[in-house]
Amino acid sequence: MTDLDFNGKRVLITGGAGFVGSNVTERVVRCGGRVTVLDDLCTGSRDNINPGTDYQFVEGSVTDESLVFRLVKEADLVIHMAARNIIVSTKNPREDYAVNIGGTLNVLLAAREHGVERMVYTSSASIYGNPRIIPISEDERPLTFSPYAVSKLAGENYCYAFYETYGVPVAVVRYSNVYGPKQSPNNPYCGVVAKFMDAVARGETPQVHGDGQQTRDFTFVDDAVDGTLLTLLSPKAEGMAFNLGTGTETRIIELIGILGRLYGREIAPRHIDRRDIDNIRRRVLNIERIRTTLRWQPQIGLEEGLRRTLEWFRNRK
Ligand SMILES: NC(=O)c1ccc[n+]([C@@H]2O[C@H](COP(=O)([O-])OP(=O)(O)OC[C@H]3O[C@@H](n4cnc5c(N)ncnc54)[C@H](O)[C@@H]3O)[C@@H](O)[C@H]2O)c1
Repeated sequence: MTDLDFNGKRVLITGGAGFVGSNVTERVVRCGGRVTVLDDLCTGSRDNINPGTDYQFVEGSVTDESLVFRLVKEADLVIHMAARNIIVSTKNPREDYAVNIGGTLNVLLAAREHGVERMVYTSSASIYGNPRIIPISEDERPLTFSPYAVSKLAGENYCYAFYETYGVPVAVVRYSNVYGPKQSPNNPYCGVVAKFMDAVARGETPQVHGDGQQTRDFTFVDDAVDGTLLTLLSPKAEGMAFNLGTGTETRIIELIGILGRLYGREIAPRHIDRRDIDNIRRRVLNIERIRTTLRWQPQIGLEEGLRRTLEWFRNRK
């Protein structure tokens, strides 16, 4: 893990009670930051944040402009992670529009008004759709196949516009399938790793949408947190977008094979129909830009990451 020092700076983390956000919150506090979390708890939970963590919690929405302005005014740094996820967004594109686009605009307007040292926006590899070239570089043209991808890309574009037009010091990270501790299967919108672990724990057969040959770039959450915080603190990151993944392509069926090894038995999945959101066949990110610019690279391979996740999963209350 990179050695980071926030030196008492006030960091506003929107969505800081969510899966990735709660991991970010704890890390920033451990590294000497004073954290304010703004979260409406729609998919997040305060239980995600260890009880001993010293942080300020504000329950509210990024769509509340005056609240966002008040909190950004107090902040030195902003990590804007609050978002409706792909499943919520597919069910309700209007809500996705209001939160993912409108909420991002509020944070940017507040950052322009009050000035911040850096704002990081957490985007998604879903903006690439089905890419032409694998592994996907940041220069690949976006192809938005879902309302969620549209809103995440729109948020990014607003960031670049505010950087170019008003000089707001933004940076963007594009995550790919982050997994790890705190991705709770109690949340019906959790990712595939948590779903598989939950199914196995219940003695049920994991369900795979489609043939299982679709690929993803699975990123362990500690690595995602590390890359996000380097992007927040490094002067070199300003105005840039970085893929944040592993560069390793894994088929869903392979993921199940690794889980089987960790459980010490073969897991035979049940194949069910693809969902509306399962229209991306291959995904693996080219991570050269973040590696060369910020000297970041993933530290945790998939098997080790899954082992740590399983340990958390078994120990959680
Ligand atoms: N987990 C991944 O694999 C992944 C991949 C790509 C991008 N991302 C991005 O990373 C960020 C965090 O995702 P996550 O996986 O932790 O999801 P999550 O759903 O666990 O976290 C999102 C958090 O935002 C909060 N939130 C939602 N709407 C809000 C609103 N209107 N106001 C305030 N808070 C609100 C939720 O309650 C939750 O705590 C998101 O921006 C997401 O788009 C995640």
